[in-house]
Amino acid sequence: MQRKVTKAIFPVAGMGTRFLPATKSIPKEIMTLVDRPLVQYAIDEARAAGITDFLFVTARGKSALADYFDRARDLETALKEKGKTKLLEELEETNMQSGTIAYIRQDQALGLGHAVWCARRFIHDEPFAVMLPDDIIHAERPCLKQMVEAYADTGGNMVAAMNVPEDATGAYGILDSDEARTGTSVKVRGMVEKPKAGTAPSTLAVIGRYILSPDVMGHLERQKAGVGGEIQLTDAIAREVEEKDNVHGYCFEGTRFDCGTKIGFLEATIAFGLERPEFRDDLSAFVKKTAEGL
Ligand code: G1P
Repeated sequence: MQRKVTKAIFPVAGMGTRFLPATKSIPKEIMTLVDRPLVQYAIDEARAAGITDFLFVTARGKSALADYFDRARDLETALKEKGKTKLLEELEETNMQSGTIAYIRQDQALGLGHAVWCARRFIHDEPFAVMLPDDIIHAERPCLKQMVEAYADTGGNMVAAMNVPEDATGAYGILDSDEARTGTSVKVRGMVEKPKAGTAPSTLAVIGRYILSPDVMGHLERQKAGVGGEIQLTDAIAREVEEKDNVHGYCFEGTRFDCGTKIGFLEATIAFGLERPEFRDDLSAFVKKTAEGL
């Protein structure tokens, strides 16, 4: 029986330069997909997987993110007075109970591995999840929940995995493993962060959901800078493969949108918009008409 995963780290310290000028004043994670900030999707997914303690690794200029999670008492009172119960309910669903959410600042942009390491005191000796809110995964069963269930059998470390086109492997952590069927996990023989063209061990890429052993924090403590001069989370997990052979890739069911890119964000906006019954007909007619006119 594995120890329950109740803590999640959300690394959100990035400057969001791909979304300039918008990110001059809004943290990327607050940018809106239909009517909810990106980060709300990750929070909802984490809650559905049984996460109760949330830690955001943030940076200077990200205070709007912490404000978003504050309870909006005035707004709640105003909605109550106006009898807007549905809106009030929606707002209440986003409330985080005091003490369940914490923030730590990453003082230097030294990479994802360093951001995760900044949360070491929050983790102590427990397994933990890491969620990259840029990766939005649309799935009937939330991705992290699928992983928590699979992890109950495997233990060790688990990373979400998905096949990507060969010419895209250089943008991801890539697994050295056999092919896996959707909805199953596969043993990882090695991992390499952003392999150079022609050197990727497979086309199975790591997507931003991880369940990690607290030992990864120890590896991060000693981890030297890797590709791009950054301390890479992938390199620390690769140490677990070498030392304990206890890493699995989980091929999740669902569609992943890379909301760290403009095209991914636009696609996600259309997909999540079409999913909403109140927009479906009008939006699909509009998209069709607009595309035909091109
Ligand atoms: C990060 C990880 C990479 C992973 C990717 C998934 O890269 O370092 O291993 O494949 O997220 O989105 P980034 O996109 O931050 O460059």
